[in-house]
Amino acid sequence: MTRTPLMAGNWKMNLDHLEANHLVQGLAMELADHNHDYSQCEVLVIPPFTDIRTVQTIVDADNLGIKYGAQDVSVHDNGAYTGEISTSMLTKLGCTYVVMGHSERREYHNESDELVGEKARKVLDAGMTPILCCGEALEIRKAGTHVEFVLGQIRAALKGWDAADVAKIVIAYEPIWAIGTGETATADDAQEVCGAIRKALAEDFGAETAEATRVLYGGSAKPGNIKELMAQEDIDGALIGGASLKADSFAEMCRFYA
Ligand code: PGA
Repeated sequence: MTRTPLMAGNWKMNLDHLEANHLVQGLAMELADHNHDYSQCEVLVIPPFTDIRTVQTIVDADNLGIKYGAQDVSVHDNGAYTGEISTSMLTKLGCTYVVMGHSERREYHNESDELVGEKARKVLDAGMTPILCCGEALEIRKAGTHVEFVLGQIRAALKGWDAADVAKIVIAYEPIWAIGTGETATADDAQEVCGAIRKALAEDFGAETAEATRVLYGGSAKPGNIKELMAQEDIDGALIGGASLKADSFAEMCRFYA
């Protein structure tokens, strides 16, 4: 298997640029102190837009192995779209990943699967890696239709895509009921859906693509449960909210392999 594990810290709307400076320096120090092996685990921070320039400056100045990206992006190239940020603005700042379709954006900004797919396409075309989020609400989980629901989200977003492009993206499965609640899906629950995602990718785009596409789990992932999650066959990393805001806990999660 050639999928490199990925630990992605989604800061959400937390930390101003001064605090971002502090966290990235601290994270770099923690990782260096433990001789972090970036080939065993890619480390990614996803700060608010206003912090990205600061993060770029630190990463470049110290030639850090940490990567950084954005939490959202516009589908437009430029023009009269007040408040939006384009892919070229992000690539200029050295961003390599962009998240789309996080449940908080779907819920508070009415983002549809089609829009999420369009954003992923835009990000890929700009040479960055999309992190496409999916996940079910508690009612759907209780009804037992979560697998079907999540596969529906992914299939709608990736409709008409080439297999070669699908192989380049990252999919993040985040059950909404587990986000920020302290309620983690069990490793078995997470594996059930991540495994179903890979199986669906194999059906739709071929086995080779399914083998190459990274699938992350997200939702109250923390140092205490990361090893068990990462031991699952189809979990290639985590999208981490709360636990990524502290250098020591995030760095500890990046060392899951040690
Ligand atoms: P959490 O958030 O780790 O705080 O649950 C995860 C996410 O929403 O990406």
